[in-house]
Amino acid sequence: MSEVFLVVQDLTVRYGVQQVLYPVSFELRQGERLALIGESGSGKTTLAMAIAGLLPASAKIAGSIRFPALAHEPRAGRDIGVVFQDSDGSLDPMMRVGDQIAEVIVTHLKTSWDKARQRAAELMQQVQIPDSQHRLREFPHEFSGGQKQRIVIAAALAAQPQLLIADEPTSALDTVVQNHVAKLLDGLVRAQRLTMLFVTHDIALASQLADRIAVLYRGQIVEIGTAEQVITAPQHDYTKALLATHVGLDWVKQPRLPEIDGVL
Ligand SMILES: Nc1ncnc2c1ncn2[C@@H]1O[C@H](COP(=O)(O)OP(=O)(O)OP(=O)(O)O)[C@@H](O)[C@H]1O
Ligand SMILES: [Mg+2]
Repeated sequence: MSEVFLVVQDLTVRYGVQQVLYPVSFELRQGERLALIGESGSGKTTLAMAIAGLLPASAKIAGSIRFPALAHEPRAGRDIGVVFQDSDGSLDPMMRVGDQIAEVIVTHLKTSWDKARQRAAELMQQVQIPDSQHRLREFPHEFSGGQKQRIVIAAALAAQPQLLIADEPTSALDTVVQNHVAKLLDGLVRAQRLTMLFVTHDIALASQLADRIAVLYRGQIVEIGTAEQVITAPQHDYTKALLATHVGLDWVKQPRLPEIDGVL
């Protein structure tokens, strides 16, 4: 059994009088991939951003979030890579994409810009953007939606974080591109043995990308288990309802994410 990486204990969050998270507790082991699923407004982003330490000051937080394996408090961007929901907005339209990736490296790893740009080109290659030496000088509008999302992923991984938090990283993309980006993310996370918290409302995608699934319902984790357990023996009515909308989602027959050739 690998080491425990993250311990969330009795975490609550409220905004003013609105309670958004009720006591939430779970653990994540090093290298484990947990999908957080739940309907819109259930608190997925709130929980993910609480772990990243990125909730606004107006959020009233209680309980604890600990990283027993780390010697210091993790920083988002450095120890925790974050792909934000609606991450289109996380690329600066006026800045060359290579510089946006390189900036993460310069900021967090204190390297020179030259080295960071070289590394940015490698990262772009890793997220399957060909001709990256040349393309790193281009601006976001010169890339497709799927490519932009892969650049955002490259930037999230640029400082070699141990934990990746990806908040609906594919939901703005059409289905084919979504599969391609999901497959790529899956490959990167496995190759780098990253610990991942993956937020989605797509239970099929969750079962493909994660070892375990946590179901959030109205601010509470109503069930958590291996992807197989949650899909084959759902306990909560909400999970059952969610599965009913995925006719044919059969764990045994569950295909691996298809390999897709070509650049999307
Ligand atoms: N900054 C904020 N100020 C006040 N309320 C907030 C804030 N952020 C989130 N909320 C409220 O917290 C609740 C949970 O929101 P959250 O964004 O975590 O849900 P979600 O599960 O990520 O939903 P979605 O699937 O739509 O992204 C919602 O009722 C939302 O209105
Ligand atoms: Mg959200």
